Amino acid sequence: AGRALAALLLAASVLSAALLAPGGAPERGAESARPRDLDKKRHVELKMDQALLLIHNELLRTNLTVYWNSERCYHCLFQVLVNVSQSRRAGEPSIAAVGVSAQHGSILQLKATEEEKEVCRLEYKFGEFGNYSLLVKHVQDGVDRIACDVVVNEDPVDSNLPVTVAFLIGLALVIAVCFLRFLLSLDDFNNWISKAINSRETDRLINSELGSPSRADALGGDSQLEAWGPAAVPQRLRCVDTFRGIALIIMVFVNYGGGKYWYFKHSSWNGLTVADLVFPWFVFIMGSSIFLSMTSTLQRGCSKFRLLGKIVWRSFLLISLGIVVVNPNYCLGPLSWDKLRIPGVLQRLGVTYFVVAVLELLFAKPVPGSGASERRCSSLRDILSSWPQWLFILLLESIWLGLTFFLPVPGCPTGYLGPGGIGDLGKYPNCTGGAAGYIDRLLLGEDHLYQHPSSAVLYHTEVAYDPEGILGTINSIVMAFLGVQAGRILLYYKDQTKAILLRFTAWSCFLGLTSVALTKVSENEGSIPINKNLWSISYVTTLSSFAFFILLVLYPTVDVKGLWTGTPFFYPGMNSILVYVGHEVFESYFPFQWKLGDDQSHREHLTQNIVATALWVLIAYILYKKKIFWKI
Ligand SMILES: *[C@@H]1O[C@H](CO)[C@@H](O)[C@H](O)[C@H]1NC(C)=O
Ligand SMILES: *[C@@H]1O[C@H](CO)[C@@H](O)[C@H](O)[C@H]1NC(C)=O
Ligand SMILES: *[C@@H]1O[C@H](CO)[C@@H](O)[C@H](O)[C@H]1NC(C)=O
Ligand SMILES: *[C@@H]1O[C@H](CO)[C@@H](O)[C@H](O)[C@H]1NC(C)=O
Repeated sequence: AGRALAALLLAASVLSAALLAPGGAPERGAESARPRDLDKKRHVELKMDQALLLIHNELLRTNLTVYWNSERCYHCLFQVLVNVSQSRRAGEPSIAAVGVSAQHGSILQLKATEEEKEVCRLEYKFGEFGNYSLLVKHVQDGVDRIACDVVVNEDPVDSNLPVTVAFLIGLALVIAVCFLRFLLSLDDFNNWISKAINSRETDRLINSELGSPSRADALGGDSQLEAWGPAAVPQRLRCVDTFRGIALIIMVFVNYGGGKYWYFKHSSWNGLTVADLVFPWFVFIMGSSIFLSMTSTLQRGCSKFRLLGKIVWRSFLLISLGIVVVNPNYCLGPLSWDKLRIPGVLQRLGVTYFVVAVLELLFAKPVPGSGASERRCSSLRDILSSWPQWLFILLLESIWLGLTFFLPVPGCPTGYLGPGGIGDLGKYPNCTGGAAGYIDRLLLGEDHLYQHPSSAVLYHTEVAYDPEGILGTINSIVMAFLGVQAGRILLYYKDQTKAILLRFTAWSCFLGLTSVALTKVSENEGSIPINKNLWSISYVTTLSSFAFFILLVLYPTVDVKGLWTGTPFFYPGMNSILVYVGHEVFESYFPFQWKLGDDQSHREHLTQNIVATALWVLIAYILYKKKIFWKI
C-alpha cells in the first residue's frame, strides 16, 4: 500500500506539473487580457469563460442599448447588456466595455435606446479572455445603412487545452501501464517456458497449488462461468462493480467542479452533459446489485422477513445519511429545521432502493436453471417471469405521465416542462419544473428545497427547485428497475454469454429508439426532452440505453475474457457509500482543495479536481487492500 501511495502521489504530481507547464503561454495571454491601466469607465474585471467586448458607437444621433442572449437559452428574453451613448463628435466614437460570456454563442441585439428600434442584430462566438470590438457606424454603399462588425483585437486563449493535455496524459498512463503489464506477462511466460522445459512435474504442482484461475482465463472464462452451476451461489460480477466505480469517479470529479467547464457541469435545463450521465448510471447499477445480492441471499436460505428488515434499515440509513451528514452546510451554522433541504441524492437512492428491493422481494422467484426442461419460452423468460413487477412499474410510469401532463398548476400552463425565469419569453417566471416543482413546493415547502437549481444562471429562475424532488423519484425507480432487468439477464443466462450480449443489445436499441421518438433527437423540440432536473422519461430511456451498452462492453471484457480487471474503477466501486459520503464531507479539506493562485483559471481548477479525484481512487484502493468496506 505504501508503494502504491508513493506511485500515485508521483503520478499526481507529474500530472499537475504537466498541466501547469504547457499552460504557461496562454496564461500570460490571459493576464494581459485583464484590464490593468484602463480608465475607470472601461475597467472590466473579466471572469472565467468571459471575453472583453468594447462597443464603439460612431453614430452621432443615436444612443444605443445592447441586448444579449445566449444561443443555448431556449426561447429566452433578451437581457440588457450595456448602454452606449451617442458619439459626441464625428471620428470620436463613444466606447463602452463589457464582459460577455464565451461559453456558447452569443446573440447581440442593438436598439436605439429612445425609439426602441432595432439597429442591428448579430450572432458571434466569443473566445475566453479574448478582446473584441464591435464597431457600429454608418456606411454608404449605394444606400445609407448602419453596419455592425466584430473585430478581434486580441486572440482568445484556448480554454480546452488543459482538458486535452489531461486527456493525453491519462492516455499515456494507460498505455504505459498496459505496456508494463505486457512485459510482466512476458516474464511469466518465460518462467513458464523454462519450467515446462525443466520438468512438467513442477508445473503441475504449481498449477494445482494456485488453483488454476489463469487457465480458466486462457480458455475464455466459460468454464469458470459454468462452474457456478445452476444452484451454486453466484460470484460477484466484476463488471457491475467496475461500472459502479466508473459512475462514482465521474460523479466525484464533476461534484468537485470538473475544472469549471460547462460540459462537466449540469445542463441548465434540457440537454445532456457529462455531469448528467452519472447519477442515473449509479441508480441503474444499484438496481442490478439489488437483484444479484438478493438472489444470492435468498439462495443461502435467508428468510424474506429478515431481508425485509434489512431493506428497511438500509433505506433508513441512506436517507438519514443524506439528511444529516451530506446535506447541510455546517459552515453556515448548526443544523436547523427552518432551512433544511429534505430531498437529495442519498435520499433519492434510499427511497428508490426501498421501493425496488421490496418489489423484488415480494415477487422473488428462484432463478431457473439452464436445464432443457425450461426451453419452452426461455427466450423471454427474463421478462415473463417478472410480469407483476413490470405491471407495477408501468403503473408508476403512468402516474408520472399523468401528474406531469395533467396536474393543473395555479398560474402555469398544464403540462409545462420548462425552466421558468426568462425562458418561454418570460411568460411563466415562477413555473420552474411545472408539476414537479409545484408538488415539491406544496408538500415540502420552498425552504426545504434546493435553492440554486442549475437553471438559475442561464434562465434567471428565482424560485427554489429541487432536481431530486418527489415526482422525479418515480423515474429513478424505473431506472433502477431497468438495472434489475440487467441483473436478471446476467443471472438467468449466466452460462450463455451470447444470450446475455444479445439481450443487452436488444435493450440498448429498444430504449435508444424510444428516446429518439420522445426527443426527436433534439435538445428542446421533442415531446419530452431529455432533462436531468425533471428526470424526464426520455432521460431515463437514454441513460439506460447507454448503461446497457456499457454493460455490453464491460461484461465480455471484464468477466468473460478477463482482458481488463476494471482497475482502477473497481476499487471505488467496491466502497461506493464511503467514497460518496467521504468526498462530500471532506470536499473543502486540504488535499482535496487548496487556495488557487488564479481562481479564474480552468487549468488550476482542473488540476485540483483531478488530484482530488485521484486521491479518492487511491483511498478506495488502500481500503480494498486492507479489506475495509463500508456496507450499509
Ligand atoms: C483591447 O483592445 C483594445 C484595442 O486594441 C485596446 O485599446 C485595449 O487596451 C485592449 N484591452 C485590454 C484589456 O487588453
Ligand atoms: C442620448 O442621451 C443623452 C444623455 O443621456 C441625451 O442628451 C440625448 O438627447 C440622447 N439622444 C437621443 C437621440 O435621444
Ligand atoms: C440603459 O438605459 C435604460 C434607459 O435609459 C435604463 O433603463 C437602463 O437601466 C440602462 N441600463 C444600464 C445597464 O445602464
Ligand atoms: C414570482 O415570484 C416572485 C417572488 O416570489 C413574485 O414577486 C412575482 O410577482 C411572481 N411572479 C409571477 C408572475 O407570479
